[in-house]
Amino acid sequence: MLYAEEVAVPRIAREVGTPCYVYSRAALGAAFDAYHDGFGELAHLVCYSVKANSNLAVLAQLAGRGSGFDVVSGGELARVMAAGGDASKVVFSGVGKQDWEIREALAAGILMINVECPAELDLIDRIAAETGRKAPVALRVNPDVDPETHPYISTGLRTSKFGIAMERCLGDYERAASMDGLDVVGLDCHIGSQLLSAAPMAEAAQRAGSIIDRLAVTGLQLSYLDMGGGLGITYNDETPPATADWAAVLRDAVGGRELTVIVEPGRSIAGNAGILLTTALFHKSNGEKNFLVVDAAMNDLPRPSLYDAYHRIEAVEDTDETIVADVVGPVCETGDFLARDREVPAVSPGGLLAVMSAGAYGFVMASNYNSRPRPAEVMVDGEQFHVVRRRESTEALYEAESVPEGLLS
Ligand code: LLP
Repeated sequence: MLYAEEVAVPRIAREVGTPCYVYSRAALGAAFDAYHDGFGELAHLVCYSVKANSNLAVLAQLAGRGSGFDVVSGGELARVMAAGGDASKVVFSGVGKQDWEIREALAAGILMINVECPAELDLIDRIAAETGRKAPVALRVNPDVDPETHPYISTGLRTSKFGIAMERCLGDYERAASMDGLDVVGLDCHIGSQLLSAAPMAEAAQRAGSIIDRLAVTGLQLSYLDMGGGLGITYNDETPPATADWAAVLRDAVGGRELTVIVEPGRSIAGNAGILLTTALFHKSNGEKNFLVVDAAMNDLPRPSLYDAYHRIEAVEDTDETIVADVVGPVCETGDFLARDREVPAVSPGGLLAVMSAGAYGFVMASNYNSRPRPAEVMVDGEQFHVVRRRESTEALYEAESVPEGLLS
């Protein structure tokens, strides 16, 4: 029998229904603390990357442990504030920030805006001047290192849309430092996600360090080195570095410099703190292939369809029998699968399956495709569990829509 902390998982399915995301409060806390502990004495700030799982209960949990937050939109910033996060520990990244988002970030008093292109400097300077505030900024530098991960989530290569090329950033720093509305405080560098080796990050941090030194020579002393997120997790048989080793690599890269290190982990905090719970609906076979049809689909967890990502699938109630099947959902696309040609528990219709490692980039990427209400979210805490987002109703699917009279005539 699968347990989430002290709670038997079938109890959650009975009371909340499926599909349903289930998160563990203890696992979230432990993953966050591992960063904190890993940095030890080094001045640091862990800014949990909200995009990985933005449920208010998750954010509140981490805020309570002293976490800062990495946001990429005005919506994420609003969530952090609603969850009781501390704006002075928020960093704001993203290649296409809009006026209103910059305004709200400055009004909230965030720690810094990670600037992704030279033109954004002018925009922030103008908005800061209008609001009478100096905007704290870091330049997001693209170090051109290969993070050796899935191409869709590699961001530190010259060919990606992120950041400012390293060889031109000194000039941009000089220009930024001359702008009245800006307070240039940091350097930011995120190279990718689901990284299974710390070596590319170490290389990027070393390049970042040399830029920081060159700026210091010109009289521009930075306070923050933000190395982004990216530490991978075990979905199947991957062996990512331990959080403490990741932190140690950063400690070494900083050396004796007077800097506060920022990290923006998302997946490595939330990923293995969550599962997606689903019920088997039907078994079918077309002669060549077996299909196990379940009630969760690509709209609930798009990672398998989108990245061909692997998520382990486990029985919730003990069973020794397995079948080799495609585990598919009800969405009308052949691309709607959670696993393909996989040996999975042969649960009967009505039986439960757990899709593992679904705490990050799960619910946040869910959509209403095929007009499917998004799943409920549950947070387990010891022997108790709480619904932290109710299942969407079918009415909610179209509550923002209208059919104006004029369109009917
Ligand atoms: N900081 C920045 C600037 C980022 O772009 C990201 C992720 C992170 C931090 C957090 O990275 P993490 O620690 O979670 O690896 N949807 C994809 C992942 C996209 C990641 C985008 N950026 C997936 O499901 O694998």
